[in-house]
Amino acid sequence: MSTPVIEAKNLKRVYEVRRGLFKEPGRLQAVGGVSFTLQPGKTLAVVGESGCGKSTLARMATLIEKPTEGALNLDGIDAVNPPHGKAKDLRRTVQLVFQNPYGSLNPRKKVGAILEEPLAINTKLSGAERTERARAMMTKVGLRPEHYNRYPHMFSGGQRQRIAIARALMLSPKLVVADEPVSALDVSIQAQVLNLLADLQSELGLAYLFISHDLSVVRHIADDVLVMYLGHTVEQGPKERIYARPLHPYTQALLSSTPSASGERRKRIVLKGELPSPLNPPTGCVFSTRCPYVTDRCRVERPPLRMVDGRQVACHYAEDFLANPPI
Ligand SMILES: Nc1ncnc2c1ncn2[C@@H]1O[C@H](COP(=O)(O)OP(=O)(O)OP(=O)(O)O)[C@@H](O)[C@H]1O
Ligand SMILES: [Mg+2]
Repeated sequence: MSTPVIEAKNLKRVYEVRRGLFKEPGRLQAVGGVSFTLQPGKTLAVVGESGCGKSTLARMATLIEKPTEGALNLDGIDAVNPPHGKAKDLRRTVQLVFQNPYGSLNPRKKVGAILEEPLAINTKLSGAERTERARAMMTKVGLRPEHYNRYPHMFSGGQRQRIAIARALMLSPKLVVADEPVSALDVSIQAQVLNLLADLQSELGLAYLFISHDLSVVRHIADDVLVMYLGHTVEQGPKERIYARPLHPYTQALLSSTPSASGERRKRIVLKGELPSPLNPPTGCVFSTRCPYVTDRCRVERPPLRMVDGRQVACHYAEDFLANPPI
């Protein structure tokens, strides 16, 4: 096996949040111990609803924020305490693509300048060489030569996301962290951008950490899936296992709202109750306040992530779901 592009071990991120003038600051655990490994050319999809910690994980993977605890290696290099002189290499290994292609592109710069900027900052290439690279990248992502002199606002959402992807690839990263890259786009455009990402992956051998709140979006692009709830991994493993037979009730609920591979609708599981505040998470299983199958044991004993049927799952009753699939 080659060196993993990214290896995260028990990553945690805690924020201190103010709760009013006279109260002690609260301790908000946005990510509560997440581990994964990603090989070159592969895609790990991180899925979960709003506030579960996906973007916090993305910020740690792209070195924008340091984990409070845990280990993070990028391409074999310690990214939490980088060896002397390696910080720059690390930053070139990974790039981030945001959800909102309107906010992430400088409106005052033309596409050509946006694409050449990372080269101007990080390489010694001449102006002519930078332009050549930018134009070549534009072709790769399906933009036309005349787009070089246009401003971001002159493009549709899908095309802007192509520009953002092109910019992320200018320094030849090994890993692209894409935080909800298609969520702001029309459904018809989503498929085009997903296809582009898949083509770029096979051409360039990129690894993707692909973040989405929607399991149906990642169905085709993912190799592995990591389902998060309130900062914790509840189920994680090969896509085929998880889509064919989800063993955690939260994964079951997420999947029940998407059509199955054969196109038929699954029995819909509607979650009751609100997502608990991460400032005051449930004791026991993090999902216990909303789980349709909750027992007394779940309310007091946190189920560890453990291997069942070829994937990891954090549910006391995973074997029962394996024997009697509820969806
Ligand atoms: N800088 C911060 N300070 C305090 N709390 C934060 C900070 N950043 C994130 N949080 C909290 O951490 C939790 C996880 O947030 P995060 O943005 O990672 O979730 P998410 O899964 O990306 O959600 P969404 O789907 O809405 O983008 C939330 O409760 C959020 O309010
Ligand atoms: Mg987010």
